[in-house]
Amino acid sequence: MNLNIGQQIRRLTAKVLRDHALPIAWHRRAGDSWLEKNLPAESFRAPHPVRMSDIESIAAEIEALGPQPLWEKYRRVYDADPDVPFADAAESRSVGDVRTQPMMGCFFAWLVRQRRPGLVVEFGTAFGISGMYWASGLDEAENGRLLTFEPNDVWNTIASGHLRAFSERVVPVLGTFEDNIDRYRDGETIDIGFVDAIHTDDFVTPQVEMLIERLTPGGLIVLDDISFSDDMRACWERWAEDSRVAASVALDARVGVLEMRA
Ligand SMILES: C[S@@+](CC[C@H](N)C(=O)[O-])C[C@H]1O[C@@H](n2cnc3c(N)ncnc32)[C@H](O)[C@@H]1O
Repeated sequence: MNLNIGQQIRRLTAKVLRDHALPIAWHRRAGDSWLEKNLPAESFRAPHPVRMSDIESIAAEIEALGPQPLWEKYRRVYDADPDVPFADAAESRSVGDVRTQPMMGCFFAWLVRQRRPGLVVEFGTAFGISGMYWASGLDEAENGRLLTFEPNDVWNTIASGHLRAFSERVVPVLGTFEDNIDRYRDGETIDIGFVDAIHTDDFVTPQVEMLIERLTPGGLIVLDDISFSDDMRACWERWAEDSRVAASVALDARVGVLEMRA
């Protein structure tokens, strides 16, 4: 396989970062929360899921497809606020530009093995890399399913092809989380919600509120890219201190986890 220079650098970086421990920063601590009982105080190296090398091989195959067009709604977001990071970048992205990194994926798989959730929801799917990490945890726990939502037809086609083959526990859905969640969850409450779509407070805050309305008491909400911009940092800090949150923690200054009160 011939890789361009960008792909080679990404692959090398992923290799170097493959086993690093994720630094932990606690925001709210209640003393008796699930997060505090299960996560160490300062840093965490999650064990690799059994099928990690399969996941990374599939990611490399998708990387070789090169950049794919962004969902058209991003243009409206960028036009409305040119200060959003990457507003002036090309309107196509490859998997390495948007995917969850391997050690964070290991954390997601670990979270699922420990919690044994019935229903995990993810938005967005993108090319399906984080989805495979969540699914690998569900498969190892032999419990639960993942509903993953993606409105970009091109990206959803790439992701759903390999996700369905990877695990019977994954349901890839073409369309937004907001428009489709209630049709697919069959009244089931959400145990873990992963918010990894458009990283602005205007989008994230209503999405978190929607999750809370449908969440199992004591459920977890995982926010990606909490340091993406000043706007996202402020969004995370506000959610981390929300009165409905029992405990909140940031991993690698990248992913924030909210444990809601039971
Ligand atoms: C950063 S990427 C997700 C990366 C992916 N979770 C991973 O780690 O492999 C963000 C994705 O969210 C999708 N998206 C944006 N708004 C959405 C929404 N309301 N519902 C579902 N997906 C959305 C975008 O089209 C894009 O593919």
